[in-house]
Amino acid sequence: MADVTDPKIIDGKATSLQILAELAEEVLSFSRSFRHPHLAVILVGEDPASQVYVRGKMRSAEKSGIETTQITLPAETSEKTVLEKIESLNGDGGVDGILVQLPLPGHIDQQRVIECISPSKDVDGFHPYNLGRLAADKPLFVPCTPSGIRELLTRYKVSTEGKHVVVIGRSIIVGKPMALLLARKGESGNATVTICHSRTSGLDRISAGADILIAAIGRAEFVKGEMIKDGAVVIDVGVNRVEDPESKKGYRLVGDVDFKEARERASLITPVPGGVGPMTRAMLMKNTLLAAKRARGDVDGS
Ligand SMILES: NC(=O)c1ccc[n+]([C@@H]2O[C@H](COP(=O)([O-])OP(=O)(O)OC[C@H]3O[C@@H](n4cnc5c(N)ncnc54)[C@H](OP(=O)(O)O)[C@@H]3O)[C@@H](O)[C@H]2O)c1
Repeated sequence: MADVTDPKIIDGKATSLQILAELAEEVLSFSRSFRHPHLAVILVGEDPASQVYVRGKMRSAEKSGIETTQITLPAETSEKTVLEKIESLNGDGGVDGILVQLPLPGHIDQQRVIECISPSKDVDGFHPYNLGRLAADKPLFVPCTPSGIRELLTRYKVSTEGKHVVVIGRSIIVGKPMALLLARKGESGNATVTICHSRTSGLDRISAGADILIAAIGRAEFVKGEMIKDGAVVIDVGVNRVEDPESKKGYRLVGDVDFKEARERASLITPVPGGVGPMTRAMLMKNTLLAAKRARGDVDGS
């Protein structure tokens, strides 16, 4: 566990708690004049990591005063049943946000499930409509991990204006929306962004030129010290389990960045755990409140 008193550490846990407390006040005043924002979470199967993620989301909802319904379905549930469940939540006026915990069992088409969620309740922001809105610079819901990272940068007063940001990873969940967000015109954007992936040649050289390096790869401790410029800000999105016989669980979580090496070079760095993960959950709650406000007719864009 990283030492959060270390001035180089970006403390995502503490920041997320602060955001959840701010949200709790907003939710309270909103619920007095309307109702509690309501998030429905669908979990299919018993994947232990997914169960942990869902529990974390429920805890964050509780802290911010957001009502939740958890729908747990057995692993063998058919795709048709999952789609019907989503359709019924789409039509439920008392539900503001719908989240389907990913990954889904192999027999279910993940993309079809994402596309079944009404874009106005897609608080994860993964629906092609919402990703398209972000690309068109008219976001409705921004995916939670990239918006959590932007929030961390803002709160730690890391300006992105004119900076070279290198994002390693091009998933629709993290890499691509992250790049879109930071390249947007305006405050907390205006960065020059390079997206890298498994076919990038000269990755080490490109990442070593980054003022802000964001790693969303899914490979334990992939980013080594020599891939980081002195003084860079390093954001580690990865969550990887590595065997650890000394730990009670038999494993520990590490990021996509070799923390010890990166700590020596970076001016600021997010730890794993306690960096990006809690911010993702806080942004999910923010999106749910936003969805509820739209349901009441308060706001349109983000
Ligand atoms: N903390 C959080 O809240 C949070 C949220 C979401 C995800 N995560 C974690 O973040 C990580 C990434 O998630 P994801 O959903 O974006 O993963 P993903 O869909 O598997 O995408 C991984 C990306 O990394 C690229 N990549 C793989 N090997 C590479 C290599 N050797 N060199 C350069 N690029 C490489 C892939 O390139 P190609 O496109 O060429 O295959 C791909 O674009 C995972 O560890 C995940 O658990 C954390």
